Amino acid sequence: MTAIVAGGPPAGVPAAGPLLDVTDLTMFFPISQGIVFERHVGDVRAVEGVSLSIRRGETLGLVGESGCGKSTAGRTIIRLYRPTAGRIVFDGVDITRLEGEPLRLTRRRMQMIFQDPYASLNPRMTAGGIVGEPLDIHEIGTRQERRERVHELLSIVGLDPEYGARYPHEFSGGQRQRIGVARALAVHPDLIVADEPISALDVSIQAQIINLLERLQAQFGLTYLFIAHDLSVVRHISDRIAVMYLGRIVEVAPSRELNERPLHPYTVALLSAVPVPDPAVEARRRRIILRGDVPSPVNPPAGCRFHTRCWLRERLGNPEECVTVEPPLRPLAGGHEVACHFAEKVDGSSEQVQAIGTRRGVGQADGRQAAGAGAAAAVPPVPPTSPPA
Ligand SMILES: Nc1ncnc2c1ncn2[C@@H]1O[C@H](COP(=O)(O)OP(=O)(O)OP(=O)(O)O)[C@@H](O)[C@H]1O
Ligand code: SF4
Ligand SMILES: [Mg+2]
Repeated sequence: MTAIVAGGPPAGVPAAGPLLDVTDLTMFFPISQGIVFERHVGDVRAVEGVSLSIRRGETLGLVGESGCGKSTAGRTIIRLYRPTAGRIVFDGVDITRLEGEPLRLTRRRMQMIFQDPYASLNPRMTAGGIVGEPLDIHEIGTRQERRERVHELLSIVGLDPEYGARYPHEFSGGQRQRIGVARALAVHPDLIVADEPISALDVSIQAQIINLLERLQAQFGLTYLFIAHDLSVVRHISDRIAVMYLGRIVEVAPSRELNERPLHPYTVALLSAVPVPDPAVEARRRRIILRGDVPSPVNPPAGCRFHTRCWLRERLGNPEECVTVEPPLRPLAGGHEVACHFAEKVDGSSEQVQAIGTRRGVGQADGRQAAGAGAAAAVPPVPPTSPPA
């Protein structure tokens, strides 16, 4: 059954360029008022000017607080939404404005795993029906071939193929997410957008699903956009991590680099919330509490969107530039791209040292890259960062 769906370059032929290349992607949701005469009164600027690329076989983690636009970015990339602006190139083909049959064929190669395995599975369909539905939609294989493929998929994700006759309520949360994964795999996708696939699961089950996703990636050469609100989740599975704040990407770096040397003040704050395994170090660390809530994406702050909550800006005496000039994502050493006018001031700061704990040089468990040389950074008992008033 493995040959019933064509996708990607022929076996043995390396794909040129990234599998996914996104430039200045923007997704606004219009806000209307009035019952008889609807007026356009504004937009929810969920995603604005997002650029990223993912190599074939790579995992890009996308992380940020609730409401920052992660899901919208993922859904727009796989063209569940029609982008407001920007460009999406998938495997060398511009799919930004694709419609009809060409879009349907492209979507086959891009699948999504959803956050909530309780809500995302149709309670009236059997597990087998759910897993096989994409094959039916895309009219792939004969009825017998589809049945065999569903059995194969259930066993690939570690479920007894006999369970195909059961309904979602008969499964545990972890098993339901396995069904969601099997369904995403059904049409042999190249790219999977995993939108917080483990956040609704018990901690004990989360590692199993992560391990399953990693095994499937190695087995089928999958490329992942892995969305999470928690850095501690994405850093274990990601090759690179992109950090989002209020619709924009503020930092991108290789996973290990980002964990050992965060250069955007927002990334430092996120990392300061992730516990380190050493209790002695953990006792001396202070979390950076960001002031206030995330501003509304309907009317985001001018200049740097993070300026209303930025600890570095306050440390630097509130420079005007943060309010008037939007910082572009600019390349810095170590493969970082950072959208902060003053990112160099973060490097070596007490906040950065506190946030990374002992990760630098000894973080074998953190990130996917092999541990490099470097001594463990001692964490000096620096005073806590006082949250700005
Ligand atoms: N269909 C929609 N119509 C209008 N606004 C939307 C729509 N989908 C999302 N939004 C808004 O866009 C913004 C980004 O939402 P999104 O769901 O992408 O964030 P998120 O980072 O995935 O959050 P979470 O971590 O809670 O899942 C939010 O303000 C949200 O209310
Ligand atoms: S540009 Fe200014 S407000 Fe924005 S992150 Fe950098 S220091 Fe903070
Ligand atoms: Mg979301």
